[in-house]
Amino acid sequence: MKRLDENIAKILLSQKQIQERVHEIGTQIAADYAEKNPLMVCLLKGFCLFFSDLVRETPIPLELDFMRASSYHDGTQTSGTVQFEIPLSRNLVNRHVILVEDILDTGTTLSAVLPALQQQKPISLRICTLLDKPSRRRFPIAVDYCGFEIPDVFVVGYGLDYNETYRNLPYIGVMQ
Ligand code: IMP
Ligand code: MG
Repeated sequence: MKRLDENIAKILLSQKQIQERVHEIGTQIAADYAEKNPLMVCLLKGFCLFFSDLVRETPIPLELDFMRASSYHDGTQTSGTVQFEIPLSRNLVNRHVILVEDILDTGTTLSAVLPALQQQKPISLRICTLLDKPSRRRFPIAVDYCGFEIPDVFVVGYGLDYNETYRNLPYIGVMQ
């Protein structure tokens, strides 16, 4: 049987480290948005695991939505173009919106997604990312909630893929 972890060189962030940090971020968001009924938007599909854990660690009334935009089609290099594959199902007017992303790398994806969301005139729009690779940034993006800053390595697991595989690893690992 082929093992899911056979090409993982090392664990960068363990399941426990991720759980603890997600709890901290959820607690912070709950404090910041207690009366605001925020709309938490999941950028599919990398983020579906982080997103589902995060919203369960955010014990206030809130609503969820999903969208899919991607700047990566396969492999480990960004294509530099962004496609909106699944649009949001609701309007952001008069909403406090938190966009939840798996990993902020060059910023190509968010630099295209953010203006499109701002056009809908939300009251506020904040960015929450589990991982940030600041050394790779090509577009300036201000992050409001960040799980971990990581070096310039390609990581997989906890929702992140390499050619669509490894999303179901419970930790974040570096490939060989
Ligand atoms: P950006 O548009 O360059 O910021 O790239 C963001 C997207 O690239 C993320 O949502 C991921 O899908 C993908 N990505 C960037 N770095 C990694 C990585 O280390 N592992 C897996 N996917 C990555
Ligand atoms: Mg991806």
